[in-house]
Amino acid sequence: SNTEATKRGALIVVEGLDRAGKSTQVARLAEALEARSIKFPERTTAIGKMIDSYLAQERELDDRAIHLLFSANRWECARSIIEEVESGRNVVCDRYAFSGIAYSCSKGLDYEWCRNPDIGLPLPDLTVFLDLDAEAAAARGGYGEERYEKLEFQARVRQAFHLVAQDVSRHGGQWSTVDAGASLDRVTEEIMEKVRPCLDEIRSRGSKIGRL
Ligand code: TMP
Ligand code: MG
Repeated sequence: SNTEATKRGALIVVEGLDRAGKSTQVARLAEALEARSIKFPERTTAIGKMIDSYLAQERELDDRAIHLLFSANRWECARSIIEEVESGRNVVCDRYAFSGIAYSCSKGLDYEWCRNPDIGLPLPDLTVFLDLDAEAAAARGGYGEERYEKLEFQARVRQAFHLVAQDVSRHGGQWSTVDAGASLDRVTEEIMEKVRPCLDEIRSRGSKIGRL
């Protein structure tokens, strides 16, 4: 037969501090790519509800225990991400394993220990980091009541994200930093400038999705 194998979709991750503008940009990107959009933590599952109550400061959990729950929350979605991408659909993801590492190692946990539980998850074809300094993020309408929404902690997380960026690149992943301080439209444009060549490459090479 002359049926062409289905070309796979792309997995694009958007990362950044709280209030960096991820939700808006993920929504725009998902629309532009006709993608399924997902967000971590995925708060509707049993694990997600535990994470939600931890973030709402209704329950305390050991730093390592919550780290593993965040990772498990990605693992419970991993199969459906792979199926979606293999069926030819793009997936845009608001936060991923890189948030897991950046936030947990900002509490003092060992970097490699933090990275380990996510090894084997689907590898993003591109991670776009919306970079904003912690002061500028805090000035955007202020933080809510959730755990981690504190200036000093966010400043540490930003530094940790810079370490993650170097590590991802060392491991052969694609990481692009976008200045999230620019106007919404400019940020969208810059994201699209990074995403387009990535989609083109997947289309032309047709490689299988990788693993973290
Ligand atoms: P959200 O504000 O994007 O819903 O994310 C909730 C918080 O959880 C945010 O402060 C980042 C943090 N987080 C982690 O600490 N580890 C993770 O693995 C993820 C996905 C988020
Ligand atoms: Mg938040």
